[in-house]
Amino acid sequence: MLHIQNNNTPRPVEKQSKRSRESKRERERTKIRMFSMYPHSTATMGAFATGAGATSTNRKQHHHLRRYLNTFSTNKNNKTRRRSSSRRRKGDERRTMVSAKYSSGLQKLENCVDSGQFDRPMMEELFTIADEMAKVKPGSKDSLLLQGYLMSTLFYEASTRTRLSFESAMGRLGGGIVSTESAGEYSSAAKGETLEDTMRTVESYCDIVVLRHFQAGSAAKAAKVMRAPLINAGDGPGQHPTQALLDVYTIQKEIGRLDGFKIAFVGDLANGRTVRSLAMALTKFNDVEFFFVAPDVVKMKDDIKLFLDERGVKWSESTDLIATAKKVDVMYQTRIQKERFGDRLDDYEKAKGKYIIDQSVMDALSDTACVMHPLPRVDEIDPAVDGDKRSAYFRQAQNGLFVRMALLKVLLLK
Ligand code: CP
Repeated sequence: MLHIQNNNTPRPVEKQSKRSRESKRERERTKIRMFSMYPHSTATMGAFATGAGATSTNRKQHHHLRRYLNTFSTNKNNKTRRRSSSRRRKGDERRTMVSAKYSSGLQKLENCVDSGQFDRPMMEELFTIADEMAKVKPGSKDSLLLQGYLMSTLFYEASTRTRLSFESAMGRLGGGIVSTESAGEYSSAAKGETLEDTMRTVESYCDIVVLRHFQAGSAAKAAKVMRAPLINAGDGPGQHPTQALLDVYTIQKEIGRLDGFKIAFVGDLANGRTVRSLAMALTKFNDVEFFFVAPDVVKMKDDIKLFLDERGVKWSESTDLIATAKKVDVMYQTRIQKERFGDRLDDYEKAKGKYIIDQSVMDALSDTACVMHPLPRVDEIDPAVDGDKRSAYFRQAQNGLFVRMALLKVLLLK
């Protein structure tokens, strides 16, 4: 617990003239630096990271930090700190953002391991926040929302979008990043450290951890031993919940609704974690019909089909991509995941290149349909159709930034 009225509390009076010349952002940074000197917060002091802000072993300390900072700046007895009424109103707004309350289950969300954790109201509220995040401008008040927080990205598998969009999301909200490139090679996993030990250690250096791992179930295993929030950035062929969230967000933006539409999943449906996560997320909406188009060796697995049956969701399988394209509102293409085939390279060759989205498929789609792909692509979408207004995959990748900004806010600020 912090004690605000303490004689040892550093007083910034001597910095007053300098502070009056500082920009708003610089003043916020000064607040954080002052807190690092606060004598009753040894853990925070010890973990203080220069530049990026203060670190802490748990979120409560940050809430105390922010409560302390807000109390400090609104201390009316301290004449030198008194603010104008308009300034006070701005401070009140900032406090509201810093201690955000959510009307859905987001209020109780502690981590993001599985797309099944999100019900419809949670997704809708998250998307409203994502819309706000898309408007955050550099240097604005909201660009400092996560100042003082640190996020660790620990990726045991390659990534372009997920890792960079998370790091960009944290940076755009003023937070700091600690990261190891290719965690399997450059973290102590290479020396035989267990995932659990790594996670316990990493969480003590930051406030939230984003993990990508090659084994299904690894995120759930890590979350069990952690106190800091964990975000699953893809666990082998298991789950990729933030991809599912950004995919649902993209569908809403592209076709304008989340009820009463038809979606085709195409490509590697056996190994594609994005397809599995998205299929589960879409069961939370009404009258969504699924069409599966996949080579024999990578057909949709029975567990998802059973999951859909149990929820009364209509699905069918087809081998005719053009006929399917004529029926659907969303065409969700995926890459054949060579890395999941092991030594079954014959199977990979059979699956590769079987279903390609090219101009003939675009011609079969309606004018209002969209084509999505979690990316990266290899050869399953002809680059010649990139310029078609219905090709949404790069917009989809950008939506990942806004959804991940929203998720970081939700998990760090309650
Ligand atoms: N969609 C996706 O997960 O992309 P990356 O593998 O590049 O992160």
